[in-house]
Amino acid sequence: MVKYSYSGLAAMVASFAAPVLSMTSYPNEFFTPEDVLDSSWVANAKWAQSNTIEDAHFIAAQGPWTVTTKPILPPTNNSHDYLSLRPYFWPDCSNVGNTTELTQAQIQTMCTYVRRDGEFNPDARMVNDTGAFQAMSDSIFYNALAWSFTKDATYSTNIATAINTWFINPDTLMNPQLTYAQLLRGPGVQEGSHTGVLDLKCMSKLVSGILVMRKGQAAEWTSDLDNGLNAWVKQYITWLTTDKMALEEKAATNNHGSFYFSQLGALQLLVGDNAGAKATIEEFFTGIYQDQISANGDQPLETDRTRPYHYRAYNLAALVVNAKIGTYAGMTDAWNRTTKSGAGIQQACNYAMTIPATGEEDYIKELFTPLAAVASVYGDPDGKYAAFLKERDPQYPGSGYYLLAKGLSDSGLTQPTSTGSSGSPSPTGSSNASNGAGKLEMGAVGMIVALGAAFVSLL
Ligand SMILES: *[C@@H]1O[C@H](CO)[C@@H](O)[C@H](O)[C@H]1NC(C)=O
Ligand SMILES: *[C@@H]1O[C@H](CO)[C@@H](O)[C@H](O)[C@H]1NC(C)=O
Ligand SMILES: *[C@@H]1O[C@H](CO)[C@@H](O)[C@H](O)[C@H]1NC(C)=O
Ligand SMILES: *[C@@H]1O[C@H](CO)[C@@H](O)[C@H](O)[C@H]1NC(C)=O
Ligand SMILES: *[C@@H]1O[C@H](CO)[C@@H](O)[C@H](O)[C@H]1NC(C)=O
Repeated sequence: MVKYSYSGLAAMVASFAAPVLSMTSYPNEFFTPEDVLDSSWVANAKWAQSNTIEDAHFIAAQGPWTVTTKPILPPTNNSHDYLSLRPYFWPDCSNVGNTTELTQAQIQTMCTYVRRDGEFNPDARMVNDTGAFQAMSDSIFYNALAWSFTKDATYSTNIATAINTWFINPDTLMNPQLTYAQLLRGPGVQEGSHTGVLDLKCMSKLVSGILVMRKGQAAEWTSDLDNGLNAWVKQYITWLTTDKMALEEKAATNNHGSFYFSQLGALQLLVGDNAGAKATIEEFFTGIYQDQISANGDQPLETDRTRPYHYRAYNLAALVVNAKIGTYAGMTDAWNRTTKSGAGIQQACNYAMTIPATGEEDYIKELFTPLAAVASVYGDPDGKYAAFLKERDPQYPGSGYYLLAKGLSDSGLTQPTSTGSSGSPSPTGSSNASNGAGKLEMGAVGMIVALGAAFVSLL
């Protein structure tokens, strides 16, 4: 096992040369400028800083991203219209009456598409606006975090370029609606599905980043960019709050609905409508949330799925983000809101972390961010959250989420050593300065944690 030893800032720069094969894409995140700017917590979390910097470089190098380069077009033939395809639907051409082979274009407009649950039609991958948006929002998330403690223009420039390309430049911008998200192909009028609104659930990562650019007065975040993005978001909010398809997603009672409220609340913060954001999150907690957690902490609407461990963690990520947005918008008790059963977010977290992940081991890492946030907000007197992370996250306390989980114990892992993706860091601590500061040592394999959340929760 090759190990890299670093110390201090110079080492963080040197670490760019280390082989970074991927970064972690959290199901969702939200942070405020106050969480990161001039934060002594962040300043002390050196290992998490180092990994965040690597992730920021890794993902930004893949951008910028645009919907206009996709190889197939939506029914409008307008490349600026966002497009994604329903992944579990397959063409049934038995009733077409053709006497020769059909072309792809004929198949997609003449054959009826039928659902085969769990069977992913590789056709759906011909267009990847979904992956592009997810990568862009991750880039803004990591680059804003990296900027918050370095103030290095490299990161703010990455953000400016990504926003300009996706939202503002007339040649490459996305039109502000999701009419053709999760399009169902076949005869007749081809329309998107309300489930496709979930494709942009990571708006809250993007909003976190822009709020940091503003509050930190990044020179690269110009008033033109700010005005351009605001104008786009205002149009999109109108679509999100009036379009039939968007309102169907809002009415979804499970994670789809939860993420709708995350997305809308975050965007209202972006355009300065704090009262609107507060009302949005209030509507969530008094609405669909009421039926989402049972007395024992289970989430019945998620458990009743093909991958219950994943879906519990996934909705929990939305609940945590909604509590964060609500708090930032001025709610005083968002974290304490309970459902009809009397249980709340912490009970849901406690339940999710105790259920075996049988057959779903890959999804355990989806629990890391909500669990770290819960530990930060409610405390961790018996150390169970820290113990869970220490045992299962080879990067703990060096993961990006650690920067956002003020007060989360580092379990004394001041010189974390990862033995690989299945290994755990073990304390070797001589210098126990504070949350991960000191000499850094990690295995390359420990950094390779990729969460392909884009395609797993489409239905
Ligand atoms: C899109 O292009 C196809 C193929 O050229 C054409 O048949 C169709 O009418 C066009 N649709 C619109 C809305 O222009
Ligand atoms: C009709 O088209 C489908 C799709 O190309 C093809 O699988 C099928 O064999 C065709 N039928 C005939 C009779 O050629
Ligand atoms: C879609 O885009 C994402 C982000 O760039 C990428 O990781 C993924 O491999 C892409 N998927 C396909 C099928 O091209
Ligand atoms: C929950 O409510 C209690 C009692 O009002 C309060 O002391 C506590 O700080 C609240 N916790 C959170 C996380 O808001
Ligand atoms: C390191 O810090 C932890 C938690 O703050 C503490 O329990 C432990 O005793 C410290 N270890 C050393 C070697 O100082």
